Amino acid sequence: MDVHFKKSDQTGDAARVYFCFEEQGLPPGAVTADETSGGHLAKAASIAKFEGKSGQYCEVLAPNGHEAPRIALIGLGKDGELDGLSAQKAGASAVQKLGKNAETIDFVVGGLSAPKVDGNALAAALALGAVLAGYSFTRYRTKEQESALITKEIRVLSDTPGDAETAFAAGRAIGAGVYVARDLVNAPANDLTPPAFADKAAELATLGVEINVLDEAQLESIGMGALLGVARGSAHPARVVTMHWQGGGRDKPLALVGKGVTFDTGGISLKPPGGMEDMKGDMGGAAAVVGAMHAIAARKAKANVVGLIGLVENMPDGTAQRPGDIVTTLSGQTVEVINTDAEGRLVLADVLWYAQQTYEPEAIIDLATLTGAIIISLGHEHAGLFSDDEGLAEKILAAGLTSGETVWRQPMGKAYEKGLKSKFADMKNVGGRAAGSVTAAHFLRRFTNDVPWAHLDIAGTAWKPETTALDPSWGTGFGVRLLDRLVAQAYETDG
Ligand code: BES
Ligand code: MN
Ligand code: ZN
Repeated sequence: MDVHFKKSDQTGDAARVYFCFEEQGLPPGAVTADETSGGHLAKAASIAKFEGKSGQYCEVLAPNGHEAPRIALIGLGKDGELDGLSAQKAGASAVQKLGKNAETIDFVVGGLSAPKVDGNALAAALALGAVLAGYSFTRYRTKEQESALITKEIRVLSDTPGDAETAFAAGRAIGAGVYVARDLVNAPANDLTPPAFADKAAELATLGVEINVLDEAQLESIGMGALLGVARGSAHPARVVTMHWQGGGRDKPLALVGKGVTFDTGGISLKPPGGMEDMKGDMGGAAAVVGAMHAIAARKAKANVVGLIGLVENMPDGTAQRPGDIVTTLSGQTVEVINTDAEGRLVLADVLWYAQQTYEPEAIIDLATLTGAIIISLGHEHAGLFSDDEGLAEKILAAGLTSGETVWRQPMGKAYEKGLKSKFADMKNVGGRAAGSVTAAHFLRRFTNDVPWAHLDIAGTAWKPETTALDPSWGTGFGVRLLDRLVAQAYETDG
């Protein structure tokens, strides 16, 4: 989806949208358009009881006196209540409503501003919403669908198009990063194998990100026994990819670690067949890290951030690891694998350790579709946040609120540790059924030392059974917006 910025009076034969505040009548541009139409727009708005309330929509087909085939009014609600996120929703709903019928949509925003969002920021937020809504995953269809989204271009018509475009620079980068993550999550596992995923991540080099891809021989020689144990049953070899963006900021990087299980059958502890196809999305953490690195590099963030992803496929096979096997992690600690379906934590254990060894990060955040239990706790509305570092937790919670990708803090504490005791090794890889997401977080905690660390369980948010205007596809790209805002708000300082 392309976004262009033009002068406000350059409307033409594209579908056109005016955004309206509640209790303010039609905005200036729409007043003129209404006069041209001989009162057609105002009459339609009155018949539709359109008052500019948030979520309201009114569309006029073939408006009198206009080249535009459709002119739509979209409600923004009360101007004092409008913020960046509600503006994104309004921009998204324009694409949701008109996307099947218009290749180009004009957003007429001249003269529009609100107390909390100036005119250019408002234009940028509407455009970002449109971009997020304008995503579709059609690569595997050979026939065009009737309901297909056809919008290819948004033209933002502003009084200050240059400034609005500048305000949209971050939005453009974020939108692109979210698309990268969604494409990865939606891709089927027969095509998106660990090596294919690594190739995709390596494309970040074109944005100035320093890439290092570790193959199985290298992983073996440095001792990533836990990660390799998971990969053993698969015909596709494991990879670990590091992606370092040094855009300035502090000496020590922020490390972002992602679980990249390209398919999770459960391994020998095989999952039941119902819904197993969703497990192609078990690399949503790695996708979020790649998408966030894309956004951060594309907008040239003044920050030092390194992304690390552990890529494996969890398959049952004659060579697969068994329940009862004991693996030696990169940290030297041994793990008894009780359940081969608790594989994400085994992958993360080694990548978390590697991140510290290699980069001495200021803080580490991992993202993983780690447990079904977090879906029972939080549904698809929030990701679970686990951290014993108050400062880091606060920063992530705040970034969740600004980005709209919200997280909810979960408990941690010594009492949850006892479930991880093993009869034979330093620990086992599962606790009991109770508090499954918490014991999983405690397992990870054993590989983070004293580095400030947070874990985001995104099993309920990386993909969603129901789409929304802002998240129109199965794979949401969850984490890209959150991590990008976290970097902007907390790591992009000169400190
Ligand atoms: N990838 C799954 C978690 C998951 C489940 C993500 C449903 C998204 C939707 C993970 O590897 C897993 O299988 N976890 C097990 C852990 C259990 C064996 C302790 C689970 O949640 O059942
Ligand atoms: Mn699993
Ligand atoms: Zn998994």
